[in-house]
Amino acid sequence: MATVLKTVFAQANVGSNPTPSANRSGFAFPPSQAEAPVTLQPHVPDGGGRQRIRRHRTGRTVAAVTLVYSALSLNLRLITIDGPVAVGKSSVGLLLAEKLGFQFFDTGVIYRTFTWKALDAGLSTSDTHALILLARQTEFRFMPGAGARLTVLIDGKDISRQLSQQQVEKSVALIAKIPEVRERMVEEQRRMAEDHRLVMAGRDIGTVVLPWADLKVFLTASVHERARRRHAELQQRGAGIPFETVLAELEQRDHNDTTRAVSPLKPAADAVTIDTDGLSLEQVVDRILALVESRRCAR
Ligand code: C5P
Repeated sequence: MATVLKTVFAQANVGSNPTPSANRSGFAFPPSQAEAPVTLQPHVPDGGGRQRIRRHRTGRTVAAVTLVYSALSLNLRLITIDGPVAVGKSSVGLLLAEKLGFQFFDTGVIYRTFTWKALDAGLSTSDTHALILLARQTEFRFMPGAGARLTVLIDGKDISRQLSQQQVEKSVALIAKIPEVRERMVEEQRRMAEDHRLVMAGRDIGTVVLPWADLKVFLTASVHERARRRHAELQQRGAGIPFETVLAELEQRDHNDTTRAVSPLKPAADAVTIDTDGLSLEQVVDRILALVESRRCAR
């Protein structure tokens, strides 16, 4: 999987050394699709008009600095990215944050971190009362991780390497559907958003966690495309899981995420939906950057 992400990041020309959680949720978009150049409109503070900057391979730093400037001048602070499992929220969100000079947080990490702690404490997913108490007693802290990524410390510990464990994988959705546990996680996610210029990714960020966000994006891709990406990722990691199994698991998780009673996966009414089928990572990020830019120009 590290190889897959390196491919993604090499294309994107951003820092490597992703955390294990980045590895879990990142995937290779079709590498054959060349990135589309993006035209950015830099903000010119002295009223000198707008200068067009075409972003070339050699001009990335200038373009990134310009975008940071644009985002600041827009007073844009919060961008949400929601979407189903394996749609690429983490890869897209991280690269977007790098380009804007924002921090990135993948909210799946906080649910996984808490799930790990609960299992480590010997709780089962049906111990609802104990899980709620544990959630209320748990201290979460957020720390800068690799690149623009924020990581979670739970009771002062970094357990990011444990988050892909099979047991965590199997239990997280069951724990995440307990309303009082979600309440606690949402409180923490909002606290984080107070302190950072942030791209936050998840299932309910635009609808529940940060409905006041400046820009909301909802990513989609067909379940077959997502299964293809996830299957390729697993193969890179040496896991010989058949494609049909991966597909069935994604379909099951989609069902769980969209039909749960609390905070089901759905686009916010004011979200912009981007269908990522057939798009490269760079192309998806460029579309979002164009949205950032259009918001800036509209004000
Ligand atoms: O995104 P990731 O697969 O890491 O998320 C793990 C699980 O955490 C999801 O399957 C979902 O049940 C839960 N989750 C959630 N709300 C979020 C993020 C994740 O319920 N905002």
